Amino acid sequence: MTSPPAKLGDPILRVESISSTNDMARDLALSGAAEGLCVIAREQTSGRGRQGRSWSSPPGEGLYMSLVLRPEVEASQSALITLAAAIAVAESLRLDFDVHGDIKWPNDVLVNGRKICGILVEAAIERNRLQYAVMGIGVNVGQLLFPEQVRDNATSIMLETGRAIEPDDFAQAMLPRLDHWYAAALSQPDRVITRWEELSSSSHDSLVRVESADTVIEGLTRGLTAAGALVVELSNGERCEIVSGEVKVRPMSS
Ligand code: BTN
Repeated sequence: MTSPPAKLGDPILRVESISSTNDMARDLALSGAAEGLCVIAREQTSGRGRQGRSWSSPPGEGLYMSLVLRPEVEASQSALITLAAAIAVAESLRLDFDVHGDIKWPNDVLVNGRKICGILVEAAIERNRLQYAVMGIGVNVGQLLFPEQVRDNATSIMLETGRAIEPDDFAQAMLPRLDHWYAAALSQPDRVITRWEELSSSSHDSLVRVESADTVIEGLTRGLTAAGALVVELSNGERCEIVSGEVKVRPMSS
């Protein structure tokens, strides 16, 4: 029998400075922390992103948050959990802060083409079942300047709106949405796919280049599969299902 998910963000542990909230949440998960536990740091000294990249985490400027999840699902269903997080952030940006967050597959949230949020889900899998997952969410809230390597591609709520809000205000607004969409990922996956597609301007008919470990393909996006893979149609009509890799949305030539 599957039990309903626990409330996400109960409890919240706040720390001043930590290497990475994902590391702290993982250690707590390994010591038996229950689903829902959330770690929020004012600063990360080794914040990390997808594909081995670092995540700039200066004190008080961003939301650096990680949650312990214990979904009773097979490993193949974990993609939907990641999509749920991107939905919660994009919805919160749009509905709570009047910032037009746009999701790029699988889970970057962009504003005017610049990244405002990154999500890193790290899962422990045994015999094809998820033992636990740590969902790390980084949101650029108050930054006015970014490190040189991301400066041209990053933005923050402050830069977009001129409003100084606290990272914690964003967390408090977003957590109920995350709770809602996480539960939906487990019980009504089709709703997650539909909402994700609504919040992504590049989910259909966008020209993309997808770079993965050993291949590069280009084609037009054709939405998501029921499991959350991105469907890309090549120029010969063949359809590929993308489950990992880096997606670059390219301008259409007129
Ligand atoms: C990405 O590359 O887009 C993912 C970035 C994820 C950053 C967040 S900040 C909180 C959590 N702790 C980390 O070290 N990374 C994630």
